[in-house]
Amino acid sequence: MRQEESKFPLFSKKKQAEVDPSELKIPTHLAVIMDGNGRWAKKRMLPRSAGHRAGADNLKTLCKNCGHYGIKYVTVYAFSTENWSRPESEVHTLMELFVEYFDRYDPELEKEGIRVRFSGDIAALPQNVQDVCRRAEEGSKHRDKMTLIVAFNYGGRREIIQAAQKLAEKVKAGQIRSEDITEELFAQNLYLPDVPDPDLIIRPSGEERTSNFLVWEGAYSELWFSDVLWPDFGMKELTDALIAYTKRDRRFGGLSQEKKGEE
Ligand code: IPE
Ligand code: IPE
Ligand code: MG
Repeated sequence: MRQEESKFPLFSKKKQAEVDPSELKIPTHLAVIMDGNGRWAKKRMLPRSAGHRAGADNLKTLCKNCGHYGIKYVTVYAFSTENWSRPESEVHTLMELFVEYFDRYDPELEKEGIRVRFSGDIAALPQNVQDVCRRAEEGSKHRDKMTLIVAFNYGGRREIIQAAQKLAEKVKAGQIRSEDITEELFAQNLYLPDVPDPDLIIRPSGEERTSNFLVWEGAYSELWFSDVLWPDFGMKELTDALIAYTKRDRRFGGLSQEKKGEE
């Protein structure tokens, strides 16, 4: 019992009555919409940039906590294709923070064995941001404890459009026929075809929408929402999400296990 308690630090007696800690289901791929930085700052009478900084710091905590549970892939939504509509100064702050983050935290990511990958329209980003992406991906290729995927300048619709363009080019070049296009072939033309679809998508901050995140990949993901703002999202919230996930019945259009044998 003592050992269980230390492995699941925030598993209160009440939570243990809901789900036995040893039966907790761990998603292979967890995705998180890091939302609520602005409101976090506003509550403290701080500028929005302070909220973004606190949000970026909390990504380190998330990585640690996901590592604790043995989650293999973690995708975080850091900047959407729609976020360009914010004031230029805020967009600038977010770009600067991005560059600063990977230069500052790479040694810590290395220590934790975290590989870094990016998902999004990276080619449309400023050159210095693209350079950071290339450096972080190249330098972390060998790490295998966990993969952190940062969705930056990401939009689910843009990802689908770009896959469609790649396929159209292949048809034009005579490499494939339009009737060869299946779900599998389409998915192979998305940003990270080798990464499994997310099992669970979490959105803090009280909003209950996906805001153009993982439109294709999230078709059968479980969704979990929390009122906690992203910079405050910690081990307790992650544990609550995993407990909720454990209790879900993922049917993928079929029947639940118990019903399969019934007429
Ligand atoms: C999320 O926090 C960060 C980005 C979208 C880049 P917000 O900046 O959206 O914070 P709120 O939603 O205004 O509180
Ligand atoms: C979603 O948050 C995008 C990120 C967290 C990067 P937004 O704050 O941009 O989403 P909306 O505008 O509330 O839908
Ligand atoms: Mg927001």
